Formats: sequence, structure tokens, C-alpha cells
Amino acid sequence: MRADSGKTVSVWMDTAELPRPPALEKDLTVDVCVVGAGIAGLTTAYRLSGEGRSVVVVDDGPLAGGETARTTAHLSNALDDRYGWIEQVHGEKGARLTAESHTAAIDAIERWTREEGIDCGFERLDGYLFNPPEEEEGVDLARERDAARRAGLADVEIVARAPLSLFDTGPALRFPRQGQFHPLLYLRGIAAAIERRGGRLAKAHAAKIEGGAHPSVETADGRVVRAGSVVVATNSPVNLRLAIHTKQAPYRTYVIGVRVPHGVAPRALLWDTLEPYHYLRSQPLGDGGDELLIVGGEDHKTGQEDPGERHSRLEGWARTRFPSMGDVIYRWSGQVMETVDGLAFIGASPDGVQNVYVATGDSGMGMTHGTIAGILIGDLVLGRENPWAEIYDPSRISLRAAANFAKENVNVALQYADYALPAEAEGPQEIPAGEGAVLVEGVKRIAAYRDPSGAVHRHSAVCVHLGCVVAWNPLEKSWDCPCHGSRFDPYGRVVNGPANRDLDPD
Ligand code: FES
Repeated sequence: MRADSGKTVSVWMDTAELPRPPALEKDLTVDVCVVGAGIAGLTTAYRLSGEGRSVVVVDDGPLAGGETARTTAHLSNALDDRYGWIEQVHGEKGARLTAESHTAAIDAIERWTREEGIDCGFERLDGYLFNPPEEEEGVDLARERDAARRAGLADVEIVARAPLSLFDTGPALRFPRQGQFHPLLYLRGIAAAIERRGGRLAKAHAAKIEGGAHPSVETADGRVVRAGSVVVATNSPVNLRLAIHTKQAPYRTYVIGVRVPHGVAPRALLWDTLEPYHYLRSQPLGDGGDELLIVGGEDHKTGQEDPGERHSRLEGWARTRFPSMGDVIYRWSGQVMETVDGLAFIGASPDGVQNVYVATGDSGMGMTHGTIAGILIGDLVLGRENPWAEIYDPSRISLRAAANFAKENVNVALQYADYALPAEAEGPQEIPAGEGAVLVEGVKRIAAYRDPSGAVHRHSAVCVHLGCVVAWNPLEKSWDCPCHGSRFDPYGRVVNGPANRDLDPD
């Protein structure tokens, strides 16, 4: 499939075709309108259609064609931000609910896969967290084990090394019964189940979202969906200006897929503790005995660093550990929304508008957080109690995460200094074909892209969300905003929120 979230192609996009929903041709009235057809939106629609609610899912791109297509699809309850820290910030009860919800998400995917007969390669396997030799301090594994056990993960234990024949990880923390799958094959099955239950999938851009007593979604071409509830599952909510965007920060993350002989890749999920860390898994290639070793990492703030050497650094890291590995056959990148307190924001929209729900802040755990969103928002829409509601409440303010909050917002404030930066090119004549650059013309900043035929496409470089200057991403051929992660294609068309419209003409 083709995704619209960037130029690179993940192994998932390359090995799954998803149906293309038709355009929304007339106004609709439904119980629930879901905006965004990634894992959070589709899971929510699946859950609610299973409860007899009429649903429509609208998205202006391909099904699961946003960040869901760019994951490495680890299914894990080993929190990226570590249980020791989650316990400090959210308390012992909060850490227990966190572990419970991520465990339940993996269980739900396993159950739905079985019930719907979805052939997506779901498998259970263990996960290992280890301190790499180049890490001077690392994570205190015993402390993290104890915190994980207090959170209810009683089987977490320290082992002498992760089960890899080729490199010795040294002592590692083993998290049993994690999972992995092919995310797009899974969501193809979930989408089919939604339609079997009478739900609708439609291609449309949600231009205006209204809540209150009579919620509605108006599309860019003038159709109106009237609904009892609206769920905004657009990776970064497009219905909010500020309420959530000061509490999470966008990061780019990089992934390579390397051909390795059968038996070389780990039958496990692996994470090291570097900052930023590396993450590994394997995937059958289906063309003989070889497998794909998937290695991710090298994260940085969106729009603030050059993707340049990221993939080759990942390759170097992997080659020293797996010398027999073959060619790198996939290179892709994705975007992670890191919340200041380590947990996603899932629940009632924090602007107080009634009957609107949001799911965002994947925190590097997008597959489980997206599934939790489906379960939790499903319950909220149905008026049922859910014990996880408080820890994921989008309105929460975690005072113990104040240092992270301040750090990320100082970083955003500094991005406005980009208005003082010199031009990246003196004029469009300096921009190579297929590349972009920010030009300076008087007080204006221009996002200029030269297409492969040589024509130059110009837009204002001022992000339509809150006015930061976008930066050219030469890997994904996109304009990325360094403040809250909005992204636009080379022609200025919006591909990721919080912006919900295209860049202005220059
Ligand atoms: Fe907020 Fe661009 S995403 S200013």
C-alpha cells in the first residue's frame, strides 16, 4: 500500500494491501463518528460496532496509512518510560493500572485476532531490556524489576542474558508474554469486521469538528456527519489548539529492516537503555527461509535535526552485533508523540466540549495505547465505568512531571527563534530537484520545493497551527513543524496534526 505520511516505505506497507474506502457522498447520521483510521480509530469503531452502535470512520488518507503504518509493532507491557518512573509520577496504583491496561491490550489483540480469524502473524514472545556495554550508567535492572512487580507484573525477572546466539547482552530484564504482529494485516481484518457489522469507512477530510448536545463533523467537501459522539483519533488531535499540545512533544524515530538467515534474528523483543534507545524484533519474510531483523532508534525532536546519517548509524549498530546480516532492504521513519508523564491521553476532550473524545500521545507504545484507546473510549461512549479513565484522562496535570513539561515548552519557545535564522538557500535556483528549502524574502519565510521536473512550489513556511517555521525533511520529503509536530507534504498539503489545513500560499 501507499501511505501518505512520508516517502519511505515500511515492511508493513510493502506486504499488505488495504481496501480504499469510498468518498463520503452524502450526509450521514450515526451514533459515533471516528476521525482517523489508525489503530486507535479503527479499534474504537470495532469495539462500538460490536456493541450495536452505528459508526463511521473518516480519514483523508489510506486506511492505517499514518503512523500506524510506520510502527515496529512491538506489543508490550514493558513501559518505555520504565515502571520506576511511572510509579514516581502516577503512584503505585497508577503504575498497576498502567501495567494492567497494556497487558489487557495485548490480550485483546490476541482474542480479536482469533475471533475474527485474522491471519496477521500474531505471536507471543518474551521481551528483554538490557544495558549495552557502551552505556556507563544504564538502568538499575533490580530496581526496575521490583517496580514492575509492584505494578503487578509478578513474572518479570533478571536473566543472565537475552537468548541471542550472536551477541551477549549481559544481564537483562525479562518481560514474559509480550507480542508481535503485522499491524496492517491485523487492521485489514478489523476494518472488514467493522464493515460486516454495518459500520462504514469513508475517505473524507474532517475540516470542522463540533461537540456539545448535537456533535457533528463537517468534511472539506461540505458533507456533514451528525453523531451522538465524535472520537478524534488523528495521532495528534486536530480539534485542539493548545490544550494537549503543551503536554506532549513530537520525535522522529528511524527503522531499518535487514535480511538475515533463519535462526539469526531473535525470537524476542529487545530494547537497550541508551538515550535514545534501540529496539529490535524479527519478522518472517515469506520468501524462503530468511527473516527480517527490524532495528529502530536514533530518535530526535521533529524538525530540529537532520535525518542524514540515522539509518547508517542504525546499520552500523546492528552489524557489530549481527555480523552475518545481509542487505538492508527497508529504511523508514515514523513520528512518536512523547507525553510529559509517559502515558497516552485518552478520554474526554480536555477543552470541556461535550461528547468529543481524543486519543493521542502514543509515547512509543502506539499499538497498545491505540488498543487501550479503543477499549477505554468505547466504555466512555457507552457510559460504562472504566478503571483506567483517570490515569489516561487528557485533562490531567501531573505535577511530578513538571520538569519534563517545562523542558519541552522551553524547547518549543526556542523554535520561534527560527524566524531569525538565515535562509537555507539564496533562491530557488539553489534547490536541487526533489528537495526543499526555507527561503527568506524580506520578513517572509517561504517553504520552496523543487519537484523532479524542476518546477518550484512555494508556500508560506509558517505553520498554520501556531506559527512556528517548518523545516524540510529530506528523507520523508515533507515539511515538519518543530513545535508540535504538524507535517505537510512537499506541496503544502497537511498530513499530520495538530494543523488541520494546508500551508498558506506564500
Ligand atoms: Fe504547532 Fe506547528 S505544530 S506551530
